[in-house]
Amino acid sequence: MATVTLTNNITGKSYELELLAPSKGSALIDVRTLYAKTGLFTYDPGFTSTASCSSNITYIDGEAGELRYRGYSIEYLAKNHSYIEVCHLLLTGALPSPSQFKEFDAELRKRAFIPQSMVKLFHAFPDGSHPMSNMASAVAALASFHYEHLEMQESQDFQIMARRLIAKMPTLAAFSYRHSLNIPLIYPDLDRSFTENFLYMMRAYPTGPREEIRPIEIAALDTIFTLHADHEQNASTSTVRAVGSTGAHPYVAISAGISALWGPAHGGANEAVIAQLIDIGSIDNVDAYIARAKDPKDDFKLMGFGHRVYKNFDPRAKLLKNLLDELKEELGVDNNLLKIAQKIESVALSDPYFIERKLYPNIDFYSGLILIALKIPRPMFTVIFTIGRTVGWITQWIEQKMDTEQKIARPRQRYTGPIID
Ligand code: SDX
Repeated sequence: MATVTLTNNITGKSYELELLAPSKGSALIDVRTLYAKTGLFTYDPGFTSTASCSSNITYIDGEAGELRYRGYSIEYLAKNHSYIEVCHLLLTGALPSPSQFKEFDAELRKRAFIPQSMVKLFHAFPDGSHPMSNMASAVAALASFHYEHLEMQESQDFQIMARRLIAKMPTLAAFSYRHSLNIPLIYPDLDRSFTENFLYMMRAYPTGPREEIRPIEIAALDTIFTLHADHEQNASTSTVRAVGSTGAHPYVAISAGISALWGPAHGGANEAVIAQLIDIGSIDNVDAYIARAKDPKDDFKLMGFGHRVYKNFDPRAKLLKNLLDELKEELGVDNNLLKIAQKIESVALSDPYFIERKLYPNIDFYSGLILIALKIPRPMFTVIFTIGRTVGWITQWIEQKMDTEQKIARPRQRYTGPIID
């Protein structure tokens, strides 16, 4: 058994701690018995050096800029497989055969409808309410309609629970968007694929001609969903696992994940990037904003830059940048915003401040430019992230449920307050 020795130089005592080997990546010091053995805690605000679980779903190598779902590289999956095939891979551990795909796809189409009485929930939201708060509420409300998922035994039960949720996310999202415009809701069309159906429910008119949905738009959005599908133990996934560890309903755990994702330090960054590019307004102003980002007295951050794990280019940002280059003419990407983004990237990547801190563009830096071209309104950007990430959240939730090592998530603290006897 590989071990590390910890020596307490105050007491002179030494302790052996086991080193755990992953299938790839950094070895881990098993500190589960540390407090019992030594009376000492580890201290790691934000969990920069702490692993919360074992998982065989997603692998990230931050130094190399590598991302894999169930062992397949993100580059291979984005190029060769649809988002629905990636959902099957994440949920079951295998890419679907043609017959499995047919069955899986048909099941998701059928489950895209939401309970009719949930429509009233959307009418309760005030005009102009942010779709992310609507989504967090709607997904939590779904738990009331499918209370049976609180007690699941068979793996089939877990699959039905997961497929039901994945299928309903585009419908809930489109309903939330259309409610915010006070226009009639459009129900899913069984003859349309997952991604096309979302664009249809966002754009269609209850009667009469519908805006054309071009194959290139469907392909671009499908790739965006795939790139967002999972990302190991990020803040929202860790939230889903923490809520899951208490035995709460899976859908309220996902609702908590949606709430965590909304923050601008996390998934809310895609919306914030576009706001920032609009604020900057011209490539002539980029240097002033870069200076602000570097100023320790200014809490201004360059949105879409930096990452807790990637200390190299986020591979998803690279794929989105290539997608932008390929599609900018056909999709009609906003050239001025694209030029500002490209200028930010080139200035930042040659600046010592960013180089020393290994700050690179992350997934949110380019995604918004494609979403604008797809006529997705900015408040819906993080909802797009939510639709893509739901499969990752629910797969991680299921893995945690099956993991015999898992306990209720309950970290300790370093107390710095008074003791008053
Ligand atoms: C996502 O975790 C995931 O996997 C998330 C995600 C997923 O798929 O689930 O990849 C999705 O959330 C992507 C990240 C989106 N957020 C943003 O783009 C917001 C801007 N980025 C930062 O807020 C920040 O980079 C974080 C939150 C992403 C990461 O923060 P860390 O790891 O806690 O790093 P840090 O804040 O300690 O920064 C280290 C240094 C600091 O400077 P010093 O104190 O050392 O002088 O880098 C600086 C920071 O000030 N820094 C930045 C910066 N990001 C970090 N300086 C300017 N602009 C930035 N964007």
